[in-house]
Amino acid sequence: MNDKISSPVDYGGIQLKNRIIFAPTTMGLKKDEYLKKLQKIACGGCAMIIIGDVPVGRGGFGQNLFTGKGQEYYRTLTETIHQGDCLACAQLHQSDSNFRSMIKYIPGVLSKKISMEQLRPLLNKEVGPYISEMPEKKIQKIITSFGKAAVQAQTLGFDMVQIHGDRMCGSFSSTVFNHRADKYGGTIQNRARFAVEAVREVRKNLPDIPIDYKLVIRQKNPDYGNAGVLPEELEEFVPMLEEAGVTSFHVTLANHSDLSDTIPPASHPVFGGEGCFLGYCDMVKKYTKLPICGVGGLTSPDFIEQQLSSGRIDCAAMSRQLIADPDWPQKVIENHPEKIRRCIRCNKKCLGGMMEHTGVHCIYEKGMLK
Ligand SMILES: Cc1cc2nc3c(=O)[nH]c(=O)nc-3n(C[C@H](O)[C@H](O)[C@H](O)COP(=O)(O)O)c2cc1C
Repeated sequence: MNDKISSPVDYGGIQLKNRIIFAPTTMGLKKDEYLKKLQKIACGGCAMIIIGDVPVGRGGFGQNLFTGKGQEYYRTLTETIHQGDCLACAQLHQSDSNFRSMIKYIPGVLSKKISMEQLRPLLNKEVGPYISEMPEKKIQKIITSFGKAAVQAQTLGFDMVQIHGDRMCGSFSSTVFNHRADKYGGTIQNRARFAVEAVREVRKNLPDIPIDYKLVIRQKNPDYGNAGVLPEELEEFVPMLEEAGVTSFHVTLANHSDLSDTIPPASHPVFGGEGCFLGYCDMVKKYTKLPICGVGGLTSPDFIEQQLSSGRIDCAAMSRQLIADPDWPQKVIENHPEKIRRCIRCNKKCLGGMMEHTGVHCIYEKGMLK
């Protein structure tokens, strides 16, 4: 039986009806198609959907929380999610791509001389100088925007916010990208300052909102991930975030290496297995009593039930499995795991769709394997 999966939980101040969360997943789909997918996932029984990459600023591509069109967009999203008896969390993010330095790659991308795979390392090369040379005034402006974005998100119906600890928070935290000599660089306390101040700003604006933090860890030997912190830095990093106002942690491998490391296929040499990043949850758990959500290669009901029952994690987040079968939670709760369409982590149409700019789909969708 899967009693733990179906049991309610207080996840850092928010009451979840069960332990399954839809992990942040940017889909690159038109609004109607995206809404249909979200509706299916919400109605499939998961407790909360995290909307990936909600920008804290006003510029950039896509919708933001500050224009009339963007506000209508996000309000429709939260209403759709709530109609499925599901909660909505906004993943607040600030990109660490320097848009000015990206412009020079546009002709190459448009003429297909630079593929998306080639573009990624080129953009990654720009992150270090961008973070290391950013004027303090700009840092303060971005930090303030985290607070403003959280207020907007709550107004538009989000029940919780998640601070995206990869992207700008992650690059400030990491010695790989952050070479500053001021109070935002150097020691782990200084490198944590950007993330800590972003969390504090949200807490200052919204004293009661639950704040999840996507805590990303990079590892050495073998080396994986470039943003985020090393395991030995967690002892300082985790309590600082908690003190700033974080109420739960969503733990995974840091980004800025290959995308297929953080979204690993079953064939991945290190992270191909079920629950591939849960070892990082164990590391974080040593330094906090706050609830922890695991993510990464979680598909098997029995395995997830075990991890929850042992107290290793408090919630299980899934991206690809709920894309493959949004009804996974309902089928498990109704004790029909045999009916689940299991994600085989092939990455063909989800990550593949994202890379090809055709939107996130799944091999199980009609016509996908033609
Ligand atoms: C198509 C796709 C888009 C994603 N978009 C985001 C995102 O916007 N923000 C984020 O933090 N993680 C994103 N992720 C990572 C997932 O949240 C998750 O950590 C990862 O897929 C591993 O979980 P899984 O094995 O359940 O898929 C994305 C993953 C996929 C497959």
